[in-house]
Parts: sequence; structure tokens; C-alpha cells
Amino acid sequence: MKRAKVAKLKKPFSLECADIAADKSISHRCAMFALLSRGRSKIKNFLMAEDTLASLEIAKLLGAAVEQNGDMVTIEAPLEIKEPAEILDCGNAGTGMRLYCGLLSGIDGSFVLTGDKYLRERPMARVTKPLRAIGARVDGREEGNKAPLHIRGGKLKSFVYESPIDSAQVKSALILAALHANSKSLYRESFLSRDHSERMLRGMGAKIESVIKDGKEWLEITPLEKPLEPLEITVPADPSSGFFFAVAAAITPGAEVILKNISLNPTRIEAYRVLERMGASISYHLKEDKYEPIGDIHIAYNGRLKGVMVDSKIAWLIDELPALAIAMSLAEGSSTVCNAKELRVKESDRIAVIVDGLRRCGIEVEEYEDGYRIYGGELKHAVINSHGDHRIAMSFSIAGLICGMEIEDIACVDTSFPNFFDILQQITGVEFED
Ligand code: S3P
Repeated sequence: MKRAKVAKLKKPFSLECADIAADKSISHRCAMFALLSRGRSKIKNFLMAEDTLASLEIAKLLGAAVEQNGDMVTIEAPLEIKEPAEILDCGNAGTGMRLYCGLLSGIDGSFVLTGDKYLRERPMARVTKPLRAIGARVDGREEGNKAPLHIRGGKLKSFVYESPIDSAQVKSALILAALHANSKSLYRESFLSRDHSERMLRGMGAKIESVIKDGKEWLEITPLEKPLEPLEITVPADPSSGFFFAVAAAITPGAEVILKNISLNPTRIEAYRVLERMGASISYHLKEDKYEPIGDIHIAYNGRLKGVMVDSKIAWLIDELPALAIAMSLAEGSSTVCNAKELRVKESDRIAVIVDGLRRCGIEVEEYEDGYRIYGGELKHAVINSHGDHRIAMSFSIAGLICGMEIEDIACVDTSFPNFFDILQQITGVEFED
């Protein structure tokens, strides 16, 4: 099992970072949405990490012609999606599995989706249940809740669906299914989750509109009458990957970081807003706005952070909560996270793993079913197991800047941010052991 020893920082740092990993959510969607177009999609800065390469591999198995040249990927969709003879392996990626499930439900053919041992334990009923209700023939272990999933795609009925969870994966799976339904569908979530699918599919010519019905706002999705326009996109840097270095700057006296060409989509940068509320100095510099607002984020240390309450807009910062927990553990006073039960079904049970990890580092933490309370104090050197969860491995590596840290099972970092340790090594020493 590969492990990393991160050395305690000796002096402040100043980092201008143009190579934060490309956005994972957008890269997955590029691989999938290109399949619905006619022509050649051109994707610059596609994320070359295990999760998104798995989605690209699946696109190939479904008949797409894919060419890779450095970080430039071109995808030419087949005239008709092919029924593959192979099992489609999503690796560690919940986004890959849930979105492909929605997309393939409406396509003629037999498809089997599987993933690694972690993904095979994650709940899929949140997509398979509403998909079955509109006629999708999807099955899997535990009545269709766990992969491997078998999909026999075909005609789908339109739907009116109010989602019980604010999840972009559920929303995207249902939108993709609705594109192959027999008439217009309506989807609603109580709080807007990340909206890349709506933005990108609209940009490709799909009709996805915001409508008011019975005094409530819904997304109205019109089925496709013809293939979409191909994508022409440069994927921005991923704000959830950049956030590890934002926290590094916010907790290190005298430090500053500039994250270049990063997504400034409001549904993705809420954790930076929380870090601002905690006292860090942060500014945003918009540079372009095609499918997404993109620009630079400057983060600078601005004194000891203060404790904070995080109980709303959870869907906008769910992925950054592990890194935020490191900032909270160094803040003055206590910080509370609640309404974040979703953390329990991410790549690991992140509530349990964060609480256990911080306690090992000498921090007092109370665990709740839907979050935790962290009493800011002094972080101490510890040995932390990632539980195969990339964000846990990276968050505790950042904590290592303060007290030195040993992180076990770091191979998972390659699922989303393969050059994470290269960037960390620009700041401090990192040793690896097998
Ligand atoms: C994602 C949505 C979020 C997020 C995940 C990526 C996406 O999951 O945590 O990392 O790309 O749609 P949920 O939809 O389950 O909240």
C-alpha cells in the first residue's frame, strides 16, 4: 500500500498554480454528452485521471472514436450507440455510474455497469428507482441499489419528479433519461445542485428550460429530435481540487496562492466563501464565460481563522468539507457542519473518517448523524488511513504542512488529481513508501 510522509512546513510559501487538475464533473460529462452529438467534439484540458478516463473508455466501448493528443481529446460519436460485448467499468466514480445509468436507460441494448469495491457498495437506488418508475429496465444487487447494474435500455416515459435529495448526479441521470422519453419531463430539486449538465447540454442545443408550475420552479426537458451539436470546450481547473491549496494558504502565516483558470461557477465555490467567512483573504477574477464562468482565485493568509457554522448550501460545498475540516481544526473556537448526511455515502463514510482522523491528530470532535462539531486547537502528527478516499488523503496531506503527517493508501489520489503531490512538493517535502 503506497504511503506518503508530508513534512512540516519550514517557511511561508507563495504559489501561482496553473496546473490544478481539470474539473472532474465537467470532464465526465464531456465524455458522455459527446455520445449524444453528431460530429467531432473537441475537449481541451480533459482531466487525465482514473475516474474520467474510465468514462472515456466507456464512451469508446459504446462505439465512439476517441483520439488523445496530450490533454486534448476529440470524440466522434457513433451513428448509433453500440451494445458492448464488454462490462463497462466506472472505476471509483459515482458520477460515471449514475450518469451512464440515466443515459443508457433510454438507448436500445444491454449494458452492464460495474466499479471498484468502494463504488460497488455505494447506493444506486437514488437513480435506479426513479428510472424504473419511467419504464427503465435496470437491475442490480439489493433490488437495483448496488452495482453491478444491468440495464436493458429502451423506450422511456416522460416524468414529473421532485427529487428527495439535492444531487447533481441524480438530476443529470434523470435529464439524460428525459432526452429519450416520449414527451416533455419535469424535474425539481429543493436546492440547486451543480448545474454543469444543464449548461453544457443547452450549449449543445438541448431544450432544457426553467419553468414555473403551481408556483414552483421546475426544469422542463424536451426529448431530443435530432443529435446535439458537438462540444467545443476548454475544461477549467477543478475548484474542489484547487481548494486543498486554498486551505494550505489560509492556515499558513504569510502564505498566498493563486489558482489560475478555475471554474467560478457559483454552485462550485461555496467552500471558498466559507473560508472567507472564517477570515481568509480571497478575491475572484473573472476572465471568460462560455459554458461556465472561469477565472483566477487569489487566497492569502489573514491571521488565525475563526470558527464557523455550515448548515446550508451543502450541495455547493459537499466535496470540499474534508479539506474545510482541516481549516476548522485550526480555527479559533468551534465549527459545526450539519445537514450533510450525504457525506456518509461518498467515496468513504466521510463523517466517520474525518472525525476519526482529526481525533488521531489530537483535535476534539463531536460526531453527529449529519455532520460534526470541531473544536479548533493544535494539530499533532499522526498516521492516517485514507480508506481509499482521494479527498481524505489530500486533506490530511495539507494538515501535514502544520504538523507533519503520514498518509496510508494514497493511490486513490490518482482518481481525481494525479499531480497533487507534485504541487505539494513545490511547498514542502514529501516522501513516498510502498
Ligand atoms: C457530482 C455531484 C456531487 C459531487 C460529486 C460530483 C457530479 O455528487 O459530490 O463529486 O459531477 O455531478 P451528488 O450528486 O451525489 O451530490
